[in-house]
Amino acid sequence: MTHSTTSVWEYPDPTRSATPLAGNSRYDVCVVGGGIAGLTTAYLLAREGKSVVVLESKPAVAGAETAATTAHLAWVIDDRFAHVESVRGADAARAAAASHRAAVDLIGEIVRREGIDCDYKRVDGYLFPGADGPDTLAKEEDALCRLGLPFEKVDRVPFPRRAPGPALRFPDQGQFHPLKYLTEIAGRIRKLGGVIHTDTLVTKVRGGSPCEVETKARNVVAAGAVVVATNAPFAVGTTLHAKVAAYLTYALAAEVPRGTLPYALYWDTEDPYHYVRLQPGGPDASFDYLIVGGEDHKTGQAADTDARWGRLEAWAKERVPGLGKIPYRWSGQVFETPDGLGLIGLAPGGGDNVYVITGDSGMGMTHGTLGARLVADLVQHRPNPLAGLYSPSRWMPGAAATLFQENLNLAAQYADWLTGGDVKSADQIPPGHGAVVRSGLTKLAVYKDNRGKTHTLSAVCRHMGCLVRWNPGEQTWDCPCHGSRYSAEGKLMHGPATSDLKPAG
Ligand SMILES: Cc1cc2nc3c(=O)[nH]c(=O)nc-3n(C[C@H](O)[C@H](O)[C@H](O)COP(=O)(O)OP(=O)(O)OC[C@H]3O[C@@H](n4cnc5c(N)ncnc54)[C@H](O)[C@@H]3O)c2cc1C
Ligand code: FES
Repeated sequence: MTHSTTSVWEYPDPTRSATPLAGNSRYDVCVVGGGIAGLTTAYLLAREGKSVVVLESKPAVAGAETAATTAHLAWVIDDRFAHVESVRGADAARAAAASHRAAVDLIGEIVRREGIDCDYKRVDGYLFPGADGPDTLAKEEDALCRLGLPFEKVDRVPFPRRAPGPALRFPDQGQFHPLKYLTEIAGRIRKLGGVIHTDTLVTKVRGGSPCEVETKARNVVAAGAVVVATNAPFAVGTTLHAKVAAYLTYALAAEVPRGTLPYALYWDTEDPYHYVRLQPGGPDASFDYLIVGGEDHKTGQAADTDARWGRLEAWAKERVPGLGKIPYRWSGQVFETPDGLGLIGLAPGGGDNVYVITGDSGMGMTHGTLGARLVADLVQHRPNPLAGLYSPSRWMPGAAATLFQENLNLAAQYADWLTGGDVKSADQIPPGHGAVVRSGLTKLAVYKDNRGKTHTLSAVCRHMGCLVRWNPGEQTWDCPCHGSRYSAEGKLMHGPATSDLKPAG
C-alpha cells in the first residue's frame, strides 16, 4: 500500500523567516518545542510583555505531532469520564471537562481576536457503540449523570450506513485547521517581539535562576523560566517518561461529497477507538475530507502498518457510501497517562523554574492549549485552580494497576537483548527494508535503501538503551520503550532521545 507521510494538513512552511539559533542569548522565557503547546505558551506570554524565544529542532514549527493530528477539539475526555472519575474522583472529572471546554473556548477567542481564518467551528460530538457492544456506552452514561455533565441520549449516530444506537450527543465541541491556526500564531509571536529558532535541537535544560538551555550546536540560552513542550517528556532530569506510554495511532483522509454526513466529531467505544470528523477540502471547499483515525498500538510493538490502514479504510467504507480517493494516510504518536489527563506544571526533578507540558493522552490540541494557559500563569507565579489537577508530580493511587501493566510491558521490551535478530544476516534484507541483525553481544539496525546501499547502525536507542524495531509502513526505527523514533538512516525524529542512532562501531 502506498501512503503519504504528510497528513491532510499540507500547508506552506509556517515559520518562513525563522533561522537556527547562533550564539548565546537571554530571554524571560525559553520555550522548547514549536508544536501547539509551545507556540500557544509563547504567544500568551508574549502578549503579556515577556521576551520569549521558541527553540524547535525541526526545520519548521508545527511539523511534528501537531501536523499529524486529526484536530478534534473536544471537552469529552478520550479515556472516558467513568475512568477519570474512578481514578481521580468526581470533582477532578468535572474540572477536567471544564478545563478542556475552556481550551476549546480559548482557541475560539484567539481566532476571533486575531482574525484567524482557520475553519474553526463549534460542532456536536457523538459517542456511539462499537464492536464491543453497549456496555461501555451505558457505563459512560451513568458517569455523566453522576457528574452532571451536559449530554443527550439520541437514537442513533448520524452515519449514512451502519449507524448504531443509542448514542450520546455532546454539545459544543470544536474543530479547526491546526496549521492555518498555528501559522498565524507563529506570526503573532514574532510581531509581539518573540523569536522563533528552528533547526535548533536542545540537548540539555538546567533549572535555576536563571535557567540554562543548551543546544546541540553548544549555544546557550539563559532564561528566567523554561517551558519544555516537546510532546514526549524530553529528558530534563525528570522521570516523567515512566508516567507516560507511547502509542502509535493511524489516520486517513478520504474525499466524500459535501453533505454526506453532518459536521461533528464521532467516536466509538472500542479500545482502541475509531475517531471521525470532516474537513472542508478542494480549491473552493467543493468536497469534504472524511478523516478517520484509530488502530492504535504501543509504539514499536506492531509491524502491520498497512493492515491497520486497510482496516481503517474498510471500517469507513462500511459506514459511509461514496467514499472517494484516499490521498492521505499517516500515523503519529500520542502519550497516554494512567488517568487520561496531561502532565503539566513544574517538572519533577527538573530544577527551579523548569515547566513541562506532556502526556497529551490523545487530546493534545486541548491539553496543549490549557497547558499553555496554566504554565503561563505558573511562570508568572499566579495561582491557577488547575495546578493540582494536572501536576506532573501528582500521586495516582487509583491508577496503580494501569501503571503496573505499562511498567511490566516496558520491562519486557528489554528482553530483545537476549533474542536473535529479525534475520540472520544483512544479505537477507530486500531493498527498501530494514531489519535488526544480531552481532555478537549487541544488535544492529540495518536498512537497505532502494538503490541497494546498506546503512548499518547500532540498534541501541539513545534514550535508555532499549533496542529499536523496524516500522515497515513508515520506514522508521521505533523504540518500544518510551517512543523515540529515528529515520531509516538513523536521524532522530522524535524524543525523548536527543541524538541520532550511532553508526555501527
Ligand atoms: C494521528 C493523530 C491524531 C490525533 N488526533 C487528535 C485530536 O483529534 N485531538 C487532539 O486534541 N489531539 C489529537 N492528537 C494528539 C495531538 O496531535 C498531539 O498531542 C499534539 O499535537 C501535541 O502537541 P505538542 O505541541 O505537545 O507536540 P508536538 O506537536 O510534537 O510539538 C513538539 C515539538 O517539540 C520539538 N522537539 C522535540 N524535542 C526537541 C528538542 N530536544 N529540542 C527542540 N525541539 C524539540 C518537536 O520537533 C516538535 O515540533 C492526535 C495525534 C495523532 C498522531
Ligand atoms: S525511548 Fe526510552 S529507551 Fe528508547
